[in-house]
Formats: sequence, structure tokens, C-alpha cells
Amino acid sequence: MSTLLKLNNGVEMPALGFGVFQTPPDETRDAVEAALSTGYRHIDTAAAYGNERQVGEAVAAAGIDRAGVFLETKIWISDYGYEQTLHGFAKSAGKLRADRIDLLILHQALPSDFGRTLEAYRALETLLGDGKVRAIGVSNFMVEHLTALLDKATVVPAVNQIEVHPYFQQRDVQTFGAQHGILTQAWSPIGGITFYRDSGHSNALQDPVIGEIAKAHGKSAAQVMLRWHLQQGRSAIPKSTNSRRIAENFDVFDFHLTDEELSAIDALETGRRGGPEPADVTFETFGRPIPEA
Ligand code: A2P
Repeated sequence: MSTLLKLNNGVEMPALGFGVFQTPPDETRDAVEAALSTGYRHIDTAAAYGNERQVGEAVAAAGIDRAGVFLETKIWISDYGYEQTLHGFAKSAGKLRADRIDLLILHQALPSDFGRTLEAYRALETLLGDGKVRAIGVSNFMVEHLTALLDKATVVPAVNQIEVHPYFQQRDVQTFGAQHGILTQAWSPIGGITFYRDSGHSNALQDPVIGEIAKAHGKSAAQVMLRWHLQQGRSAIPKSTNSRRIAENFDVFDFHLTDEELSAIDALETGRRGGPEPADVTFETFGRPIPEA
């Protein structure tokens, strides 16, 4: 049973969610069904992943009371702007077969057109006020983006979903979030993105320090990294399409890392980002239409 985190507006969210980034649409339904039957009650998707419909199908097929599954999705930059974002919500809600989305977040800041980002966020505030979403937030916002947003927003984002794994922890963003009541949610929480083989960087799943800690607890490296997130108060959304690993990633509630072990993992920071540089996200490079249905 995943622990619950209380968001800044009092809404409770299971700390450990199931991610479907890069899960092909034709594998998403099975993966989400496996996650739900394992016990996950929080699914994170995005309009840009192209698999919201299959997430909605899996949730509907699971026969679980809809209120018992926390659904999170993201508005893509191509749908930024006040009216466009309201429509973006309608598209996502339709695909997810949900009247209400639990957590709706902006997928990226658009530094080259921050005004449009602010208009998109204003639409999230409207959706929140209208009860169409239970909480709102952002993703991949750096300190400067959060600062500019907080200057104009009337609702403090509940969540900032950013790349966090032992090799890239973004402590400045995490600290700023904590100071403002913005919960950090880790994407690529077990470092699935750290396959820099060509440049000599390895994968956190094979890290010897994490391996030693895992051995000491009779757990896997992935499980140790997930505990590291949970014990430091973050939400994490590991992705897998493999039912054994889906179950493994949820089996993290029967052991505890010591303070020394947490610090040893903290010390693995490389300063090297795995995902795109948020400042470089522009309409021209990343814009693409999100289908209506
Ligand atoms: P797969 O879908 O075949 O399981 P992240 O969420 O940090 O980006 O990591 C996702 C990557 O890690 C995917 O390639 C996924 O592959 C793999 N993965 C997920 N869970 C585990 C696990 N418990 N052990 C090893 N690899 C995993």
C-alpha cells in the first residue's frame, strides 16, 4: 500500500505512482492493468505520450471505483494559451474517460513565450475553481520559471514533476519547491534515462554504491532508489512494461534506508541532466499537435 502525500490544497495523492512515458500505446493498457492489479492507485500520463486513451481503457476495465484511482496528466506546449488549454483539458478528460482529473500539470515551461505559459496556467486555475481538476501543477519548471509563475499565479502549483534520480537531483529546484509548498515529483526516478553509454556514463541501476545498499537489504537497485525518493518526501512514478518489474517497483514498503545510506545516494550526483534542457524547449523544436480524440 503506497503512502499518501498531502498536496498544498489538502488533496491526498499516493506517493508512488505508475508512469507510462515512452510506453507504446499498444502496450499501455496491459501495463496499466498490471499496475492496478499490483496495487498502484496513481497513474501518470501526458497528452504528449499518445497513450491517454489506453490509460482510460485500463482504468475502466479494472473495475475499481474511479475515485480510488488518482489520475495525473499533462498539457502539451502546443495547447498552451487560455482557451487552448481549456480545450486541452477536454481532450485529455475525454481520452481518459474521466469527468474530473486529479492532477493536471503543464508539461514544460515555454521560456520563449512565457506569456503563453502563464495563460495556460490561468486556464488550470479556472479548471480548479470549476472543480474539473482536484489539483494543478507544473513539470520541468526550473527556479526561474517557478519564480516568474509565482509572481503572477493566484494558486501555488501543488507539484513540480522534474527529472530526479541519484545521478541528477536538481536540489536547487527541490529546495525552492519545498520553501513554497510545491511537492517535487520525480520522473525517471530509477534513472532509466541515464543510459549514456557512448559518453562513458552508466546507468544508476548498475551503480555499485546502490548495489551494495540493495544487497544489504535483500532488495533490488530500483527498489532502493524508490525508497530514497519516498523517505525524502518525494513522489515517484517509475515506468515499466514488464509485469515482474511493475510488481518489484511497488514492493518497497517493507524496508527502510538509514540516514547514512540516504546520504551515500545523495553523493552520487553527477550534475548531468538526462532529459532535454528545459530552457531550450521551444515551439519550433518541440511543438506538435495533440489529436482531438
Ligand atoms: P521496462 O519497461 O522494460 O521494465 P525510469 O522510470 O527511471 O525512466 O526507468 C524506466 C526504465 O527502467 C525502463 O527502461 C524500464 O524498462 C526499466 N525498469 C523499470 N523497472 C525496473 C526495475 N525494477 N529493474 C530494472 N529496470 C527497470
